[in-house]
Amino acid sequence: DWTPDNVIADQVAAIRAQVGDARVICGLSGGVDSSVAAALVQQAVGDQLTCVFVDHGLLREGEVEQVERDFVAATGVNLVVRDERQRFLDALAGHSDPETKRKIIGREFIRVFEDAARDIVAESHEHAVHGAGSEVKFLVQGTLYPDVVESGGGEGAANIKSHHNVGGLPDDLQFDLVEPLRTLFKDEVRAVGRELGVPEEIVARQPFPGPGLGIRIVGEITADRLETLRRADAIAREELTKAGLDDDIWQCPVVLLADVRSVGVQGDGRTYGHPVVLRPVSSEDAMTADWTRLPYDVLSVISTRITNEVSEVNRVVLDVTSKPPGTIEWE
Ligand code: XMP
Repeated sequence: DWTPDNVIADQVAAIRAQVGDARVICGLSGGVDSSVAAALVQQAVGDQLTCVFVDHGLLREGEVEQVERDFVAATGVNLVVRDERQRFLDALAGHSDPETKRKIIGREFIRVFEDAARDIVAESHEHAVHGAGSEVKFLVQGTLYPDVVESGGGEGAANIKSHHNVGGLPDDLQFDLVEPLRTLFKDEVRAVGRELGVPEEIVARQPFPGPGLGIRIVGEITADRLETLRRADAIAREELTKAGLDDDIWQCPVVLLADVRSVGVQGDGRTYGHPVVLRPVSSEDAMTADWTRLPYDVLSVISTRITNEVSEVNRVVLDVTSKPPGTIEWE
């Protein structure tokens, strides 16, 4: 019988068996998957777990704060926040191929976790805390069933994108993976999260990809472009929430076409800016999706605000492609 309770009981037992008394780290992204995975591991092995939140600079507005505040308050996990914005910008400079970006981001993530693991061990020596001296052997990943399939690990076996942290890991990974959500779909993960007491704002959150805004800038990633996209994305999210549409939408990527320019007019002047794409989709599990028929007046407000408030953007376009043939993200 599938119930959240049964899943939790099974996974807690499996995690304990796998991990023993070793130390574990979990990369927290603020999203549903990593939060629920972390809460499960916390339930299983408590203080052996340290969560690491990597601020890679590819985050949306307010995300660091949400993890630092809400998730820690609800679960009491040990959390380390690392500001690695410059490191990711440097590593990504000059790259615009989507799969290359994913690989770089995945690789840098792992390097940061390795650094964090070293620091955690060093610190526990100083304070002689539980498990002191033992290495960090395990890394928790919030991999879901559809991620396994789409990355070529399941029966589907088609490598559509190397995403979801499955295909992007380096060969010389020094951690063993703990993947307690590997057999679950998103709605099941949410049910498990609620049962574990993960806050509703996190459990109900729309999906956001691990590589973040890095795969929503078509073209090279720069600090300025990230700032532009972050502003546009925040406006779109604010207006969708205000219109009460969050539950109708699976997610709504906002994509900056950084390599495209279009002519516009503002006041008396000609502008030569960039378009952003709104990509609202409805879906059950992200394997297939349809574009969400948003009300025109909401689209209109979003468009007006973005073009008024984000100076580099002079055009807002709507993506009306289903998946397939489009994917949800543009990269
Ligand atoms: P696509 O674009 O493949 O997206 O239709 C399906 C779902 O996966 C998310 N996505 C990712 N998640 N790392 C992630 O953790 C990635 O590289 C990645 N690429 C896409 C996407 O947001 C959607 O929910």
